[in-house]
Amino acid sequence: MTTAAHQCAIAASGLRKSFGEKKVLDGIDLRVPQGTVFSLLGPNGAGKTTAVKILSTLVAADGGRASVAGHDVAADAQAVRAAIGVTGQFSAVDGLLTGEENMLLMADLHHLPRREGRRAAAELLERFALTEAARKPAATYSGGMKRRLDLAMTLVGRPRIIFLDEPTTGLDPRSRHAVWGLVRDLLGEGVTVFLTTQYLDEADDLADRIAVLDDGRITAEGSAEELKRLVPGGHVRLRFTDPVAYQEAAAVLGGAAADGEGLSLRIPSDGSQRALRSVLERLDAAGIEADELAVHTPDLDDVFFALTNGETRSAPSTPSAQPEQPTRRNPHPEAAR
Ligand SMILES: Nc1ncnc2c1ncn2[C@@H]1O[C@H](COP(=O)(O)OP(=O)(O)OP(=O)(O)O)[C@@H](O)[C@H]1O
Ligand SMILES: [Mg+2]
Repeated sequence: MTTAAHQCAIAASGLRKSFGEKKVLDGIDLRVPQGTVFSLLGPNGAGKTTAVKILSTLVAADGGRASVAGHDVAADAQAVRAAIGVTGQFSAVDGLLTGEENMLLMADLHHLPRREGRRAAAELLERFALTEAARKPAATYSGGMKRRLDLAMTLVGRPRIIFLDEPTTGLDPRSRHAVWGLVRDLLGEGVTVFLTTQYLDEADDLADRIAVLDDGRITAEGSAEELKRLVPGGHVRLRFTDPVAYQEAAAVLGGAAADGEGLSLRIPSDGSQRALRSVLERLDAAGIEADELAVHTPDLDDVFFALTNGETRSAPSTPSAQPEQPTRRNPHPEAAR
């Protein structure tokens, strides 16, 4: 790897992986600076877990190369393993063991001296609010408790780089926020986090950089704000109860499109004050009053729908596509929120 790659906690170039005939990763490049959160987004089956497994040395790539903590994942897997922690998509918790026993097992795996292992286990159980449940079999834990135990187990070896594969799937909002808080704490300690998630607000909230993986390739990469600027989807939405007002508004606001069922209009807009004023002035001038008005700015959901699966792939190269054209997005965006 080049010297630049050494400043990265994780660097990969041209990673390829197939399972039989199926090409899962088709040339992936990644660079994750130390002490940052990097999030890989993508639909089910996109190859996120496969990427995590390659970077954490659990699976060998067919081509390309990757280094983690400055060590080549293929040539120096032992050194990589010593530097990382992995919380898999599916829990590594042994339900027959208690929370504490699970922790001590991890401490043994990391060859911690017995006393140090006990101290680390107790500290982490406390930090993850599991002290009270520590002596109960993990099988009796709730999903959120198991997830927290999973994370605690990942941290036993004091890794400088952690891989979290969908760490909050299935958690209630409070538990998700608790996990986010723990991730932020780790960041404060300089830990690098590689995160996959299906929750776009999670990536929006936590990630310094986000890459969208689709069909084995990275289709877009940037900060949440940069990605949002790539896609159309901003609009003003007007709802009417009076069919006549609705018809008049549609006539006055050229370029407005009917929005879903009912008497709603969608006017492409960048969401700025000026654009909003222009819409309102045109309505006022015609003496039309809308019953409801909402401004929608593109969010990561729009990015996801525009840049993944089953959609045309022109979005990344044509960020300024005409806003009037039907945007590549969820057919029921409002309902999803
Ligand atoms: N060991 C394996 N053998 C054969 N196919 C595999 C294997 N592991 C993964 N695949 C296939 O590779 C593709 C990518 O799987 P992967 O688990 O990486 O996706 P993912 O992005 O993590 O999906 P999800 O969001 O559902 O977790 C899928 O089509 C999957 O069926
Ligand atoms: Mg997965």
